[in-house]
Amino acid sequence: MTKEDLMQQAAIAAANAYAPYSKFLVGAALETPDGQIFLGCNVENASYGLGRCAEQTAIQKMISEGSRTFTQIAVYTHASPPSSPCGACRQILFEFAPDALVYMTNHKGEVLESTVRDLLPLGFGPKDLDSV
Ligand code: THU
Repeated sequence: MTKEDLMQQAAIAAANAYAPYSKFLVGAALETPDGQIFLGCNVENASYGLGRCAEQTAIQKMISEGSRTFTQIAVYTHASPPSSPCGACRQILFEFAPDALVYMTNHKGEVLESTVRDLLPLGFGPKDLDSV
C-alpha cells in the first residue's frame, strides 16, 4: 500500500478512537510484509492508567492475528505539527520492526517521516537477550 493510502487508513482508524478523557483522537495503520493492514485507535478508560495507545492496539491486533512484523506504520492525530509515537509505543514498535518506516500525519496533511530505530536510538530489543 502507498504511504498516502496507509495514512488515510490511519485517519479512518482515528474516527474509532475512544478518548472521552483526553479528547485526543489517535489512529494507527500498519502493513505487514504480505500486505495485511491492521488498524488501531487509542482506547481510554475511566481508570486513566489503563488507557491504550493507538499504535499498541494495532500491534496487538497484528500479533493476535498471526503476523510478527511490519514494514510501515502511519499515525494520525489532529496535532500540528504531527505528533510522534510516545516512548512506550516506540519500545513496542521496536520489538517487532526496528527498521520499519513511520509516517506521522494530521488533518492538515502535514507529514513527518522517520524509522522506528531513529525514533528509539540504541533501543533495547530481542537481540540483546540473544547476546548473553
Ligand atoms: N496516545 C496514543 O494513542 N499514541 C501515542 O503515541 C501518544 C498518545 C493516546 C493516549 C491517550 O489516549 C491520548 O493519546 C492522550 O495522551
